[in-house]
Amino acid sequence: MAASLNCVLRRRLVRLCCTREVRRCLVSALDSDRAEQETHFGFQTVSEAEKGNKVYQVFESVAKKYDLMNDAMSFGVHRLWKDVLLRQMNPYPGTQLLDVAGGTGDIAVRFIDYVRSQQEHQLRQEIKSKQNLSWQEIAKSYQQTDEGSPRGSHAVICDINKEMLKVGKQKALRLGTAEGLSWVVGNAEELPFMDDTFDIYTIAFGIRNVTHIEQALQEAYRVLKPGGRFLCLEFSSVSNPLVSRLYDLYSFQVIPVLGEVVAGDWKSYQYLVESIRRFPAQEDFKEMIEDAGFLKVTYSNLTSGVVAIHSGFKL
Ligand SMILES: C[S@@+](CC[C@H](N)C(=O)[O-])C[C@H]1O[C@@H](n2cnc3c(N)ncnc32)[C@H](O)[C@@H]1O
Repeated sequence: MAASLNCVLRRRLVRLCCTREVRRCLVSALDSDRAEQETHFGFQTVSEAEKGNKVYQVFESVAKKYDLMNDAMSFGVHRLWKDVLLRQMNPYPGTQLLDVAGGTGDIAVRFIDYVRSQQEHQLRQEIKSKQNLSWQEIAKSYQQTDEGSPRGSHAVICDINKEMLKVGKQKALRLGTAEGLSWVVGNAEELPFMDDTFDIYTIAFGIRNVTHIEQALQEAYRVLKPGGRFLCLEFSSVSNPLVSRLYDLYSFQVIPVLGEVVAGDWKSYQYLVESIRRFPAQEDFKEMIEDAGFLKVTYSNLTSGVVAIHSGFKL
């Protein structure tokens, strides 16, 4: 803990003092030094380099059963949480989304569906307000908007694990929702995108798996356009003692068993519940987002704080 705090302080100092080029050199020197440092993988203490490999193995192992397990573990409630995220985002036609740790693409697919339905609603409103159009004109305006992605909206799904992306791509093709999506292998701590590129950055159930959360938050800030929004959906802390007790029982006694029965993988789901307990609580995470430079940072709890949605703006 002290070592990682030390590393964060050194990074901040580097950020404050240097030009971009000098900063890159110093950051890469820090990177080789910190691969030796210790961190946690669930309740285990491991080196930082080891954590990256272990997280990779977890998602490589669960990729094919990932969606099924999400439904089984949460009784489908993860779908409602993701829908709430989309309602909070309320994207407009033309929005450029980056979904980091996007896995099998649940958020990006919902985003495209949401924008499409917004667009259809707008179209219906336009047509209602132009009652004197001929039927040919009405048919033509429908054809124009049905082509391609909804009015230039685009979602990039970025994930470190190519197996998760592969499963996501196949799912999108099967469901006919591949239009407007692109899939990129990349690390949340070192995103392969230019500065000021996206309107919205999302990360759903991903950030707790990242080794250097501060670094991922700084990258989120860098790739967002000024005015852009950061949204994070993540497991969080339950404050109600009774709910917390039941949730602990369910997490530790049932989820690994389900993991074994459904996906043949006890260990990965044991990691999942342990990693949830290690993730900072709502207020602490809010501070980390503010430290990365975001303003107007807020959060809302869902299901008594089992998960929380944090939001911030690059202003
Ligand atoms: C629990 S899944 C979440 C997937 C998806 N966002 C969802 O809500 O269903 C976590 C994802 O984070 C990815 N991940 C872990 N560490 C990462 C990193 N450093 N950079 C990018 N993705 C990472 C994993 O490969 C995995 O696909």
